[in-house]
Amino acid sequence: MAKINENYSKLPGNYLFSEIARRIQAYRAAHPEADIIRLGIGDVTQPLAPAVVDALHRAVTEMGQAETFRGYGPEQGYDFLIEKIIENDYKPLGVQLDMDEVFISDGAKCDTGNIQEIFSQDSIIAVTDPVYPVYVDSNVMAGRTGVLGADGRYERIVYLPCTEANSLKPELPEVPVDLIYLCFPNNPTGMTLKKDELKVWVDYARANQAIILFDAAYEAFIQEPDIPHSIYEVEGAKEVAIEFRSYSKTAGFTGTRCAYTVVPKTVMAYDSDGKSHSLNKLWLRRQTTKFNGVSYPIQVAAAAIYTPEGQAQIKSVIDYYMTNARIIREGLTQAGFKVYGGVNAPYIWLKTPDNLSSWEFFDKLLSEVQVVGTPGAGFGPSGEGYFRLTAFGSRENTERAMERIKSLKL
Ligand code: MLT
Repeated sequence: MAKINENYSKLPGNYLFSEIARRIQAYRAAHPEADIIRLGIGDVTQPLAPAVVDALHRAVTEMGQAETFRGYGPEQGYDFLIEKIIENDYKPLGVQLDMDEVFISDGAKCDTGNIQEIFSQDSIIAVTDPVYPVYVDSNVMAGRTGVLGADGRYERIVYLPCTEANSLKPELPEVPVDLIYLCFPNNPTGMTLKKDELKVWVDYARANQAIILFDAAYEAFIQEPDIPHSIYEVEGAKEVAIEFRSYSKTAGFTGTRCAYTVVPKTVMAYDSDGKSHSLNKLWLRRQTTKFNGVSYPIQVAAAAIYTPEGQAQIKSVIDYYMTNARIIREGLTQAGFKVYGGVNAPYIWLKTPDNLSSWEFFDKLLSEVQVVGTPGAGFGPSGEGYFRLTAFGSRENTERAMERIKSLKL
């Protein structure tokens, strides 16, 4: 008899964004005429940069000609893209990386979800709360978390609450942990850590033989000069941190799919005899076994963002989204909401009015002004009473959404 992985039964019914999509669909079925503005899932709306589109066309033409056709590529990515990443994304920060420390993939979601496979089953994981749900759900599926309690917490996960009391910045865990997921600029709160604040985590990991899984998917949205773009800007981080980056939001690749993960060869973890092992080797083994690389045209397209035209074009789209973020922040503040984030990140985190729960506020926005956001409770128990809006909408929809929210009867 085939038996299921019963860890899946420990998950909440639907993945957060699937649940939101389900509710929108139900509302649309009941109100087919509704003009719904979606600022829920952080999905980009502006088209690919012309430099990217040109590169894609060229690469597709190459694939159609016998002399330039390519079959399987290297699982960890083509050198032409890895070289550009090291030169453009890390060298200017003073971070040196070797070619075999960068792994191209089809998404930071997949990589942050899959990375847990190379760690022991009994690892204790720590997550900020609220948190991007993939880190938690992937560990639940792997059987590492125990069951979900009535308080919305899994019994074996260590939660690091990010609340107004600590200015939405996590504090070190009070019990020993092995793996720490950090995402900065943060999804969902839009908050950032300065270098000295990040150093506290690197020092903790070094002192406790823990590993930091650092999701930097939103680093390109940082506007202020004193915010680190990479955890490797902190001394010692190359001993204890794996970093995830993505072209999804940086270059509009949510539907195109390309990202990369940095696993320095100096990052070690231990077997049950206490012998150290390079995580770079384990991740290489995992990727070469289970992943066949990102397609050649897509990697060529990603490399095109590093040309001078590509850089200028993606920067102008990022500026566009960050102007949306400012419009949302200012609009909500004028309407009397308490808001966080949106300065160095494309997400705005707001406190729900009148002590409404996150899902009550979701339903109110959808039914009264047809605006969709993401309920904070979907990101963890400390997200209850908060709500997230994304700056990735079109300018027109962002402005219309703000007008509608200002008209809400509270
Ligand atoms: C979000 O809305 O949090 C993101 O779109 C999720 C993702 O990038 O997978």
